[in-house]
Amino acid sequence: MFQSFGSSSDIQYYEIVCKNHKREFLHKFAEFEESVVINMYYPEELIEEIRQKNDIVDVISGYVALQKKGSNYMCCCPFHGEKTPSFSVSRSRQIFKCFGCGEGGSVLTFVMKYENCTYIEAIKILAERAGVELPQAEYSEETKKRENRRKMLLEVNKEAAKFYYYQLRTPRGAKAKEYLDNRRLTDETLKNFGLGYAPVKGEELITYLKGKGFTDEIIRDSGLAKVSEKRGMVTQFWNRVMYPIQDINGRVIGFGGRIMGSDDGGPKYINSPETDIFDKSRNLYGMNYARKSRAGNIILCEGYMDVISMHQAGFTQAVASLGTAFTPGQANVIKKYTKDVLLAYDSDGAGIKAALKAIKILSAAGMSARIINMSPYKDPDEFMKNLGREAFQERIDNAENSFMFEIRMLEREYNLEDPEGKTNFHNQIARRLCDFTEDIERENYIEAVADKYNIGFDRLRKLVVNMAASTGGYGEVTLHQPEIKTGINSRNRSNPEENAKKAQRLLLTWLTDYPELYQKIKKYISPEDFVVELYSKVAKRMFEDIEKGQFNPAQIINTFEDGNDQREASLLFTTKLDDLESEQEKEKAFHDILVSVKRNSYEYYSARSGVDIMALNKMIEDKKALEELNRTHISLN
Ligand code: GTP
Ligand code: MN
Repeated sequence: MFQSFGSSSDIQYYEIVCKNHKREFLHKFAEFEESVVINMYYPEELIEEIRQKNDIVDVISGYVALQKKGSNYMCCCPFHGEKTPSFSVSRSRQIFKCFGCGEGGSVLTFVMKYENCTYIEAIKILAERAGVELPQAEYSEETKKRENRRKMLLEVNKEAAKFYYYQLRTPRGAKAKEYLDNRRLTDETLKNFGLGYAPVKGEELITYLKGKGFTDEIIRDSGLAKVSEKRGMVTQFWNRVMYPIQDINGRVIGFGGRIMGSDDGGPKYINSPETDIFDKSRNLYGMNYARKSRAGNIILCEGYMDVISMHQAGFTQAVASLGTAFTPGQANVIKKYTKDVLLAYDSDGAGIKAALKAIKILSAAGMSARIINMSPYKDPDEFMKNLGREAFQERIDNAENSFMFEIRMLEREYNLEDPEGKTNFHNQIARRLCDFTEDIERENYIEAVADKYNIGFDRLRKLVVNMAASTGGYGEVTLHQPEIKTGINSRNRSNPEENAKKAQRLLLTWLTDYPELYQKIKKYISPEDFVVELYSKVAKRMFEDIEKGQFNPAQIINTFEDGNDQREASLLFTTKLDDLESEQEKEKAFHDILVSVKRNSYEYYSARSGVDIMALNKMIEDKKALEELNRTHISLN
């Protein structure tokens, strides 16, 4: 499909859209091709070599300041906002783990997460760091297929963008062009954002795309059309102004479509559904331009139109989420460029609510937020039209600190005429102020708030001190999950599936701490007993490695490509088994867990034994093992 790049019809679009960006586009294109090439398969031994040459403590120290605490290293977690360290790195196990947010894994997991990159990219980074040369390995079949599909989806979206773009410039698009003109968008802005028009007869797009050689399947999978039983392929968009949504590299990954009048019926916006290339939680409208802005901050807006009119006014650091609420994934994307985010949300109730949520997400990601006051206008688009860019710059300079904004919004919930309402408000303020662990910072805020709400510094300060004394000091109230004590029956009685899962997890955790136990239990237990697929994979590998005398948790984690799998696997190796009082207690706990895993396996396979002879055999085996286990004492030494 890419061979057609540069053909006359492509030029038609790109000459207009990218006149000045053409060289840049070609560069992007090369970048894209490279990203496909690097997605290949490396042998496990090589990955293991790279891991061994990248000691986890050394690597993580390159990103954050670790402090030695006992046998581990600690710091504040770089993946969620916190003020007391719960991020722990173990050199002996080559694993990290955050007891606050649950992130965890190997050195590879850390790099993937911190650099926000793929498995393969992380391998490249670490290989380079350790001076390991990577071979030009073969694509795995699966990777090849997946990449091909992604390539086609990108290509079909690009073609659709061209089609819509062209339609806007035909007589049929006149009404849409007029609409955009009325909204005072310049031709240059229309080009810059590649705005277009989906004609009334949606089928034309399908004919066009099929003419370009796209299959029904890919058109459907791109979300540009759906299959209806009665009418065959039906397009997602018709008679709408079209906003192509681009990823950070400027590739079209989806669309937003807006109705032009208020009486046209249907929702105001329709967006492409999520697809393999369109992840709404990790992309932002306008981010491809904003990342190149020199402003040093990002302005987060609610709507596409807000972003467009901000850019038109020169605020090219403006971005918006994609028709859904702002997400932690989007915060992470922004964080790679700046930690200074300005919120330009609508000034209505819904906008305020959304802003308060965004503040929480940003602060959890370790970023600061300031709130732009748009009054008397509703949103940046209206503001810009009426007061213009200088006035907006002033609003940026005077943006409100998020804490003060939160307090101001809190105020609205209380009746300050009423003494009780006032007291409650002050108490609530004090409670919020307790969240600051740094004395100076807290004092400064006490001063600012006391000043603004006429409370009196000493009075508010006393309130805060008392509040802290009664609620256990300063800092966020983190709910430290009590770690598992004896076993599984004491908790979660109501959720047998979760119980079974937990038992499997615990058994693997025990074996991580005491690999020598494996020899004592191997006659009772096999990877098939772990009916959770991921655990079964881990168990299989773990048992093999223990037999070979080379068990290594980090190596097992690295066999999973997916970040979520890595995290889940790492949980198995980092869950802390609480210090059980006596040897006896420990033995009982271990025995309970073993029996529980076995019983669950038995139940799992009996349910399948009617149809599956393998399951029947397994069930019989399990039953025998259970009976034997009930008679057997397994000592831990
Ligand atoms: P204009 O009304 O043209 O100024 O658009 P806007 O971008 O300013 O939209 P608005 O502030 O009303 O809404 C903010 C964002 O929410 C939009 O950009 C869309 O992403 C999304 N949105 C608004 N209305 C709808 C809707 O009806 N359906 C969906 N899916 N998303 C919507
Ligand atoms: Mn608007």
